[in-house]
Amino acid sequence: MDMQGILDEIVERVATLCHQGSVAAYIPSLSQVSPEKFGICVAMADGTVYGAGDWRTPFSIQSLSKVFSLALVMSYDYDSIWRRVFREPSGTPFNSMVQLEADRGIPRNPFINAGALVVTDRLLTLTGDAAGSVRGLLRRESGNPEVEVDEVVAASEAGHGHRNASMAHLLASYGNLENPVDDVLANYFNQCALEMSCEDLAKASLFLARHGVSTGGTPFLSPNQSKRVNAVMLTCGTYDAAGEFAYRVGLPGKSGVGGGIVAIVPGRCSVTVWGPALGPNGNSVAGIAALDAFTARTEWSIF
Ligand code: DON
Repeated sequence: MDMQGILDEIVERVATLCHQGSVAAYIPSLSQVSPEKFGICVAMADGTVYGAGDWRTPFSIQSLSKVFSLALVMSYDYDSIWRRVFREPSGTPFNSMVQLEADRGIPRNPFINAGALVVTDRLLTLTGDAAGSVRGLLRRESGNPEVEVDEVVAASEAGHGHRNASMAHLLASYGNLENPVDDVLANYFNQCALEMSCEDLAKASLFLARHGVSTGGTPFLSPNQSKRVNAVMLTCGTYDAAGEFAYRVGLPGKSGVGGGIVAIVPGRCSVTVWGPALGPNGNSVAGIAALDAFTARTEWSIF
């Protein structure tokens, strides 16, 4: 298969979509990114990497970090997180408060913001430095020692993070935080503000395509844990658009409001796309179109 040819063709095809949707503005510093950027990278299970467009340009990983914080918590402490967070699609926006109150402080899944706050809280208890552990994992798996927090983005989010702060306090009021609200929020904002390229992210998520085996060849997750993370990505990774994402792309995937999406073809490869303009559910418009074209061309959907 001519993978490079397929990626070049996809970049050309989605170029016209970059002005559909809009760049996230609720975190002010994210709104300064050009919507015309687009990158795609495929990392094969054997480590071979293909890329096209802006695949080496770093961007804000935002909610993509939630895959890695969940994987880390599961690697330390297999199952206990599921007593504090459900694993069902939410059907509500990623930052919805309503459902958290109705569910009495147990978030619907680990990828909506409330669930990710609980995961970060658990990781903070387990490691003493949740954002630092996520960064360490991402550096190790991507092979890029320069993966770093963009302090401007972290400060911008902290300065406008009233909704996340409200959710953290609501979680605490239900006894579902182990650490002080401010510590959990600081770690969460920092992990979301990590900057990485499509290349870094495709390499860093390869363990999910390799049944838990890290880039160094040692097991990071068990095959069963890797299956479970992929399953939650499939059902919850793109929030209340997870059904549409499964219909169009047919792969486990996780989006972020920086415009990135990580998708996994179990046993074969990981794919990362980046297009900053988002649709109404907070997912990259060009990114979803590119992944749709990718699985159509390769016939590598899981279905
Ligand atoms: O907490 C937030 O709102 C952001 N740091 C992350 C949200 C996000 O990326 C949602 N994904 N599409």
